[in-house]
Amino acid sequence: MNILETKGVTKRFGGLVAVNDVSLHVEKGEILGLIGPNGAGKTTFQNTVAGLDPPTSGDVFFLGEKVTGFTPQVMCNLGLSRTFQIPRPFPKLTVLENVLVSTIFGNTRKISDPVRHAREKLEFVEFPLGHEVLCETLNTVQLKRLDLARALASSPKLCLLDELASGLSEVELEDIIAIIRKIRDNGVTILMVEHIMQVIMNLCDRLAVISFGNKIAEGPTTEVTRDPKVIEAYLGVDDED
Ligand SMILES: Nc1ncnc2c1ncn2[C@@H]1O[C@H](COP(=O)(O)OP(=O)(O)O)[C@@H](O)[C@H]1O
Ligand SMILES: [Mg+2]
Repeated sequence: MNILETKGVTKRFGGLVAVNDVSLHVEKGEILGLIGPNGAGKTTFQNTVAGLDPPTSGDVFFLGEKVTGFTPQVMCNLGLSRTFQIPRPFPKLTVLENVLVSTIFGNTRKISDPVRHAREKLEFVEFPLGHEVLCETLNTVQLKRLDLARALASSPKLCLLDELASGLSEVELEDIIAIIRKIRDNGVTILMVEHIMQVIMNLCDRLAVISFGNKIAEGPTTEVTRDPKVIEAYLGVDDED
């Protein structure tokens, strides 16, 4: 079953076509990697799906329902959450309070003990500091873990991750790989934008590749990473040869 499907999604910014006619699907229970060079349109594509910036044309289907142009709040309540390439929590709130916001407003069912629910998510992502720390004091690694806890607190069925692993050390990479796998094993489907091959090869069941806004490949990870079109999009062609 497809948890998410896009049909001909296009996003224009004035004359720039950032995403061009992208149709792809995410199967329930899988980890789909969305890869492509910088500026290819990966974040823009995720924004069209999550409702942050609706597509110029084309449609998005979530859990079989057409959701094109739904707001992020509605998408979150339907079961879609996300992390951001650059996390922006409420700086003057504590770590716990930030996750509480998602717990309280992100869930449609009533959470009987929101504080406990929020603390469980922070423990799940192995947040390394006390939960009463102010968010304005966090470093990149801590912000990424917080952002993930926040995304999980709304009890998503599908979670979009945007370069969650970038900027992490080798040890932190191993940790985040294990955590993402644990999220999937708990029944959450994942659509992740990622650059780091170690993360992609370890986690992704399938890959979709976009280059200059166009989908150029989609399929099992081992096949797609051997595809000459994909290698060319990443490495470029040497005109001298
Ligand atoms: N809000 C925006 N307004 C104008 N151009 C944008 C906007 N967001 C993204 N773009 C442009 O769209 C293209 C794709 O960007 P993006 O989706 O961020 O790429 P990626 O995430 O693959 O690196 C880039 O050329 C970028 O400059
Ligand atoms: Mg991006």
